[in-house]
Amino acid sequence: LKRPGVLELWGTCIRLQTLLAFALANCPSQTPSPLNFSVVYTMPFFQAQGPIQNIVNNSIYQEVYVASRNVIEAVNRSLEKAWELRTGPVGSPKCRICNLCDIDKDYNFLEDTDNQVLLLDTPFMYLYSCGSSQYGVCYFHELNSNGGLPSRSKCLFRKSANSAAYCPDCVASPLGTKVSMVEEGQAVYFFVAASINDSVTQRYGRKSISVRRPLATEDGFYSDVRGLTVLPTLRRTYHIDYVYSFFTQEFVYFLSVQRESPDQESSPFQTRLGRLPRSEWEVKRYRELILECRFEPKRRRRNVREPYKDIVYNVVQAAYFGKAGRELAEELGAEEEDDILYGVFAVTDDNGVTENDSALCAFPMDSVNKAIVDGVDDCCQSGPDLQKGCLFSQFSCIFPIAYMLSLLWHQCYQ
Ligand SMILES: *[C@@H]1O[C@H](CO)[C@@H](O)[C@H](O)[C@H]1NC(C)=O
Ligand SMILES: *[C@@H]1O[C@H](CO)[C@@H](O)[C@H](O)[C@H]1NC(C)=O
Ligand SMILES: *[C@@H]1O[C@H](CO)[C@@H](O)[C@H](O)[C@H]1NC(C)=O
Ligand SMILES: *[C@@H]1O[C@H](CO)[C@@H](O)[C@H](O)[C@H]1NC(C)=O
Ligand SMILES: *[C@@H]1O[C@H](CO)[C@@H](O)[C@H](O)[C@H]1NC(C)=O
Repeated sequence: LKRPGVLELWGTCIRLQTLLAFALANCPSQTPSPLNFSVVYTMPFFQAQGPIQNIVNNSIYQEVYVASRNVIEAVNRSLEKAWELRTGPVGSPKCRICNLCDIDKDYNFLEDTDNQVLLLDTPFMYLYSCGSSQYGVCYFHELNSNGGLPSRSKCLFRKSANSAAYCPDCVASPLGTKVSMVEEGQAVYFFVAASINDSVTQRYGRKSISVRRPLATEDGFYSDVRGLTVLPTLRRTYHIDYVYSFFTQEFVYFLSVQRESPDQESSPFQTRLGRLPRSEWEVKRYRELILECRFEPKRRRRNVREPYKDIVYNVVQAAYFGKAGRELAEELGAEEEDDILYGVFAVTDDNGVTENDSALCAFPMDSVNKAIVDGVDDCCQSGPDLQKGCLFSQFSCIFPIAYMLSLLWHQCYQ
């Protein structure tokens, strides 16, 4: 990752440290009644027009917004469609809102819009959507309390403030984007993580990690965009896949999958958690650590003949940020209301092919934050070389963390 004007990149601060490892391998002791696979359940359902790309729940209007290619559909409490808004293809008469952006269109080439970002600003009842088309610009749609079509949509792009060389209103990448929308006082900030390659950073360029603030004039974002972007020499080969983003009272986090060494095309894949302070739009105090999910049986049965295998579930597939709950809190020695990051991890080989084994890991956020603080302390105190690395690029210290609770998925669940 690169900050403007900073050349030194990957710090030498890679230290392996195991903090704690818990494992939960015991299935509930009561024998459950045998499952009856002949029971037919009829569930209400909604069939989206294509593979679902994002979903947002509006608990106040009691609607769910479902985004797929070229359309956002609103579904009501009885799972029936309330309205739909076409978001693409750009250049087609079907997409009325596409014309709200003052961006040149090629009417001979219809550009599909894959939904990358869908966010609800509840105080204003604005639904933000950013797509893969039109250089990743965003729109907002002012929702209607009577459940009808949004009363207006607006494109967040100012022609005068953007160009192919500098585009503060270009947010989403067609290669994948995750955004956390954070409210600070009256203001709202978009913490954006986008997968990029050479071409996505060049014309109407997007950054890997950036903070954007919508203008009060509702027609774009503040022009002073700070951020981090993968170094030009690595953009062709070093792909970072952002899987999830979430925030707490203090920080915004990004969960990503990437190769261990940026310059070795066949190094193993690993999962990382990036962190930015919520109040910091300058992206100066970016921290990153490696999350490791491994299976360690709590009590090894004496009669087990097979040698114990330490499996590292290296690649996160999906994640959820939530509370611990009573039972898990007891297992973890945490409090019921503690923040936990849950992730389902798979094992992949060096080509990225997933094996058919997976695990669920729970990371208490207090421990994650402590590991980052410890890592920063270690990194900046142990020796002149490390110090130099830290001084040149504070954000590039990487601290492996192996704090986890893991559970072999198929042992207790289907
Ligand atoms: C399983 O469910 C089906 C349908 O409800 C029922 O006919 C059958 O008797 C059940 N079988 C058992 C073993 O409970
Ligand atoms: C979604 O909204 C409904 C109300 O419409 C609420 O009952 C439900 O808990 C919400 N679900 C989530 C996951 O927030
Ligand atoms: C959902 O929408 C359908 C069709 O418009 C309507 O018949 C139904 O009453 C709505 N349900 C609710 C709970 O509003
Ligand atoms: C970068 O990604 C875009 C979008 O998927 C693709 O069209 C383009 O060919 C890619 N460029 C390079 C240099 O790989
Ligand atoms: C995983 O795949 C292998 C071979 O494809 C198979 O033998 C094994 O039973 C599978 N394991 C599970 C848990 O499905």
